[in-house]
Amino acid sequence: MTILTHHRPILAALAVAAGIALSPAAHAGAIDTRADVLHVTLTPTCGCCGAWAELAEAHGFEVEITVIEDYVAMKEAGDVPEALWSCHTASIGGYTVEGHVPFAAIDQLLALRPDVTGISVPGMPVGSPGMGEDPNASYEVIAFGGAAGDGALFHRVGD
Ligand code: CU
Ligand code: CU
Repeated sequence: MTILTHHRPILAALAVAAGIALSPAAHAGAIDTRADVLHVTLTPTCGCCGAWAELAEAHGFEVEITVIEDYVAMKEAGDVPEALWSCHTASIGGYTVEGHVPFAAIDQLLALRPDVTGISVPGMPVGSPGMGEDPNASYEVIAFGGAAGDGALFHRVGD
């Protein structure tokens, strides 16, 4: 929020109060993490990508899909390190979301808003959303870019 006048101390005080109320640690549960559109870019031959997008919609995300042929261009547009590539590349709230990321991890990302480029579930682990949704599956969500550098553990599913 930008305050354009110096003559409204009440507004300024409200802005300060709002800033405190919106700090992620204090207020994570109340932030509407679903306010942004989830843009999903996928290649035409990938079936599991569409499955993930459908699950995202079922979880309450507003989903927009772009189909492109150039897989590498998709990864470069999302600034995804090659070691963390999966099939589809999505974006939401200024972050890249690569591959079969569980939706709880996206909520966590948008609530915490860490200094990273995005998060990825590298490869296509069996049991992840869109890959079978096995509640007993275990795999990791890796953050990358910014404070996460080439990759840092963001969220662990299973053991
Ligand atoms: Cu996939
Ligand atoms: Cu995919």
